[in-house]
Amino acid sequence: MADLERANKYQEENRIEKSKKPVFHVAPPVGWMNDPNGFSIFQGKVHLFYQYHPYSDAWGPMHWGHYVSEDFVEWKELPAALAPDTGYDAAGCFSGSAIGAEEGHMLIYTGVMEKEGADGKKEMVQQQCLAVGDGICYKKVPENPVIPAERLPEGFSRKDFRDPKVWRENETYYLAAGNKNAQQDGQVVLFESKDLRAWRYLSVLADNQGKYGKMWECPDFFSLGQKYVLLVSPQDMQADGKEFHNGNQAIALIGEYDRQNYHLQEEQVVSLDYGTDFYAPQTLETEDGRRIMVAWMQSWDMNIKPEEQKWNGMMTVPRQLELRNNILYQRPVKELEHYYTEEVVYIDREISGSCQLPGVQGRVLDLSIELKEGSYQEFAVFFAQNEKYHISFRYVRAAQSIEFDRTYSGMVRDAVCQRSMRIKKTEGNLKLRFLLDRFSVELFVNDGMQTFTSTFYTPLDAEDIVFVCDGKVKLNIKKYTIAMDKEL
Ligand code: FRU
Repeated sequence: MADLERANKYQEENRIEKSKKPVFHVAPPVGWMNDPNGFSIFQGKVHLFYQYHPYSDAWGPMHWGHYVSEDFVEWKELPAALAPDTGYDAAGCFSGSAIGAEEGHMLIYTGVMEKEGADGKKEMVQQQCLAVGDGICYKKVPENPVIPAERLPEGFSRKDFRDPKVWRENETYYLAAGNKNAQQDGQVVLFESKDLRAWRYLSVLADNQGKYGKMWECPDFFSLGQKYVLLVSPQDMQADGKEFHNGNQAIALIGEYDRQNYHLQEEQVVSLDYGTDFYAPQTLETEDGRRIMVAWMQSWDMNIKPEEQKWNGMMTVPRQLELRNNILYQRPVKELEHYYTEEVVYIDREISGSCQLPGVQGRVLDLSIELKEGSYQEFAVFFAQNEKYHISFRYVRAAQSIEFDRTYSGMVRDAVCQRSMRIKKTEGNLKLRFLLDRFSVELFVNDGMQTFTSTFYTPLDAEDIVFVCDGKVKLNIKKYTIAMDKEL
């Protein structure tokens, strides 16, 4: 049986029940998922592919799994689109992107293969490949690899050359890919093409100048507001104060685009997320001009899922990006509101000591809290709580920090459980918006000026939410349960 057929048969026969998975976050039908791939709109539908190894809950030979959606919230599973079944991708169909063209839905991905080097030793080579499809079935083109590794300038790495992101400007296609220079520093290389098959090397779009980790993975480049934004996911990042605590950490470089030299003149570099589980984000632009980002909600370093869980990896909620006053904001797509039920509102509710509020509980919800006046040092919210378990977010007023703790979430291994984030905006009321979906929490601070994303796999019947204040604080609270129609 052909590899792709075998993967799809396995998916059909081993699909995991919905009740064991998140409700509105994408997770694999079975097995392993990492990076979002080919996030694009084709014939009016949102397509989301992903790095996929159906056969186990660990990374393995990479396939491309596939989901489709009308609204970024409710996703329909499709058959896997690519399998590592051809010489040039025999060691994996790694990450890439997609674009709609006259010919069809074009997937550009990294084919990984083993090749004999000059010294006779086997080494990995990464090259960019093309597949064309109709939104369901995809065929690799005979011209592959369309960007062979030799197309790179002398000295650039041929074994770290991956994760192409393609876009079109007028009649020209551009492609940005992750790479390493001769000093082994991360960089993004840029190519152009008229037909997605013949590509010409243009430039180094940006490089890490010895800062910001080593290899740069999964680039994405687009204009936002008055500026240009380059998303990259550096490996081997070093922490700096409270920034960059994940070894694999997604960042955004924001600046001006020098089109003459095809170079990004960076003006600021920011963390995209402060939690433990956020990597390899990718974006698309909707027909109404919104820039939407989705990321892998998992970490290479801390795999904390329970042994018996046969799926591994989720995607974040798709988030709209905006640049206002040179600050990058993220917020969940507005379509999520169509799935709101059970509204509960409290205005000027005073909290002192520890309390639960009628109607505020559950593991699948959107909860906004605004902290108003009060005299207190610390305020905390506990989620997924019962007598045994909880996770918590603690706001420490003097330090202007938020302290996350999942020590008591039911983890059986000693992984990173605590993470601290410094709040950038200190004037005005603090606003916290939490999205919970069974095994994850995404916190949007001050309208999405900063975000914090983490996973936890606490048993699902732990669903209390507890507010704790060491003095007195007045809160405005709004809570919605999120439900898919068929589950109501
Ligand atoms: C990022 C990454 C990519 C690569 C893929 C392999 O998480 O390492 O650079 O294409 O995962 O699965």
